[in-house]
Amino acid sequence: MILNQTLHFEVVHMDEKGIPKEEVWNTVLDLKRKDISFGSGRIFGSMCTSPESIAVEVNRLFQESNLGNPGLYPGTMEIENRVLSMLGSLLSLDRPFGHVLSGGTEANITAMYRAKKKTGRKKVVFPRSAHFSVLKAINILDLDPVPIDLDDSFRMSLQDLEDKLTDDVALALCVAGSTELGAVDDVERISEICSGLPLHVDAAFGGFVLPFLKDLDMLPDHVSRWDFGVNGVSSLSIDPHKMGGSTIPAGCLIFREEYPLKYLSVDSPYLTSSKAYTLAGTRDSGAVAAAYAVMRYLGRDGYRKVVSNCMEETRYLLERLREVGLEPVLDPVMNIIAVHHNDPRKVQTRMEEQGFFISRVEVPPALRFVVMPHVTRAAIDEMLPVLENVLTSI
Ligand SMILES: Cc1ncc(COP(=O)(O)O)c(C=O)c1O
Repeated sequence: MILNQTLHFEVVHMDEKGIPKEEVWNTVLDLKRKDISFGSGRIFGSMCTSPESIAVEVNRLFQESNLGNPGLYPGTMEIENRVLSMLGSLLSLDRPFGHVLSGGTEANITAMYRAKKKTGRKKVVFPRSAHFSVLKAINILDLDPVPIDLDDSFRMSLQDLEDKLTDDVALALCVAGSTELGAVDDVERISEICSGLPLHVDAAFGGFVLPFLKDLDMLPDHVSRWDFGVNGVSSLSIDPHKMGGSTIPAGCLIFREEYPLKYLSVDSPYLTSSKAYTLAGTRDSGAVAAAYAVMRYLGRDGYRKVVSNCMEETRYLLERLREVGLEPVLDPVMNIIAVHHNDPRKVQTRMEEQGFFISRVEVPPALRFVVMPHVTRAAIDEMLPVLENVLTSI
């Protein structure tokens, strides 16, 4: 949604006395009705989706757990370790170390924080396609950004990387599934070029898509290995709350080796563990249990089906967009489509006025659609005539 004006909310004071539960419920439900749900079939620009019901149910059981004070919650801690272990097996790593955090942003900030502490350096190399959380991290951590241009296929340019790489770099970051286009950087070659430097792969979105596309033999030839199977990869982020089908907030940061965690540790003497490793203190733990539940429930086969359906609808949507003269910026590698348009902001606003939420890309200007599991054939068929009308009216 384009929200660039200051929002004015009703001023509400805390009552002296509480009110009956029913009244509370009514108010909350009234406000909830203002939200758009994934189930409406109107959201075409989000990287999250309706979580699987088992994730929602399990999440509810863990409302008291706090992995920020893990000694009290050994069961929840074991669940977190199992999540990391399962993800390790998905990402070619036998003994993963890390945490389930609040999402891709926290994972990227943490990876960059650790790199600064470990190396004592400030330069971070990243492709211009990186998610804006990288810029947040640069601001918070006072790092020196070295943005790398993109090549013709919207991947990090290897030539520009070679030209700009110096030996005082703290971290090289690349993307396996860029937010805007779903492009996958050539992690194997990047790892060779950056040999010896810490290399972080942001697979916040792609992590739960690429392994299953590979299983389905649906990965284009130009996509090389991008996970811990590439020796130089030192850390990786992957979000259960995106294509993992789990509840918000859950994004995992995984390290190849245990020792990097030490750069993140601070003493936490008054808690049940003597060291704390995450940016957050008190941590949402329901989402950790939910991620575990949904991964057990779906298994690889379940995820293959989810990804296969999303790709089928991606192909269908692309075909229909082509019929109205919209050409893709990139042949979709995953379930993200961007089609050229010279005024995507206007189209986006007009679509919102009609109750449909699509997204846009700034460079090159394009309309963007993320074909998540809630984007069904029926939802696409309902949206397209509205889009056609909008396109002809502007
Ligand atoms: C590649 C990538 N990295 C990081 C993020 C940030 O994730 P979150 O919004 O969960 O913090 C996103 C979000 O879309 C993303 O696509």
